[in-house]
Amino acid sequence: MTKNEAITELATTFNINLIYAHRVFSLADKTNLIEDSSRIIAEKPKPFVKWVGGKRQLLAQFRLMNLYPPEKFNIKNGKYFEPFVGGGAVFFDLLPERAHLSDLNHELVVTYNIIKSDIESLIKSLKKHKVDKEYFLKIRSRNPEDLSDLDIASRFIYLNRTCFNGMYRVNSKGKFNVPFGKYTNPLICDEDNLRKASKALKNVEIKKQDYKEVLKKAKRGDFVYFDPPYYPASKTASFTSYTNKSFLDKEQIELRDVFVKLHKRGCFVMLSNSDTLFINKIYSGLEGVRITKVQANRAINSNASKRGKISEVLITNY
Ligand SMILES: C[S@@+](CC[C@H](N)C(=O)[O-])C[C@H]1O[C@@H](n2cnc3c(N)ncnc32)[C@H](O)[C@@H]1O
Repeated sequence: MTKNEAITELATTFNINLIYAHRVFSLADKTNLIEDSSRIIAEKPKPFVKWVGGKRQLLAQFRLMNLYPPEKFNIKNGKYFEPFVGGGAVFFDLLPERAHLSDLNHELVVTYNIIKSDIESLIKSLKKHKVDKEYFLKIRSRNPEDLSDLDIASRFIYLNRTCFNGMYRVNSKGKFNVPFGKYTNPLICDEDNLRKASKALKNVEIKKQDYKEVLKKAKRGDFVYFDPPYYPASKTASFTSYTNKSFLDKEQIELRDVFVKLHKRGCFVMLSNSDTLFINKIYSGLEGVRITKVQANRAINSNASKRGKISEVLITNY
């Protein structure tokens, strides 16, 4: 059996994507491939924060539709870029050895970097937190600008685990303002998963920057996944406050232009957004670009009657 055949067999046997299958193959003991791969796969980390718009549930659908990962993308030659990384559901699914992750959320990026470089101090700090409304409000009121990077990461994970619905929302001054979540027993310090995530991030670059910076680095053959703040499905349903900047018509058109530039450069480009008239309009009629509709479960609406399946689009150039 050739190396590529063995990798494809791993992908089928364990129902994993081909990029991750490459990594598993390179780490596994080749004399005992299946058993050792099974041990490695059991050690796979999950995203360490809950993030609104997380893509985990949709990945299986994308894969069944043969839209993800791009079949011709070769991880040995190309790099993976995720310029709106958020909780990193797609990164943690692919686990490419070399990747560029970025986001505009400063505290999130600091947290990724602390997990990567100072995991044991972070675990120690997370173990000191308490689940109590008064304590939550005290931690929430702290200004991240006055904190060390370690304290920013510890506060960020603590608030994410104990706030209402694990949401991240800031007010117009950029201050986190989600209320206490009243969970009975939230797991604030999932040390096992955090250590696995730390290992997975070892060769990964994580920066705070605008998504447009991807244009400076991505080359022909690289794979870029964009998961921007979604265009609102209706005027009242706008949940785009990850940062205190809006991401509406003008910003979506600028993003479309970045998509087209990368497409022309020969990158593999994949982008998620809401299935709205506006998004369908700005991506239609582009040569070589496909719009596919997918159904997602959305549980973020606090009004239970409004939860349910909503239609999203996946836009690809391959
Ligand atoms: C829909 S979320 C991404 C969710 C992510 N795919 C996941 O699985 O959790 C959008 C992300 O874009 C970030 N963001 C907003 N505007 C940005 C910009 N101009 N450049 C880079 N990131 C931005 C937000 O901070 C947020 O984390």
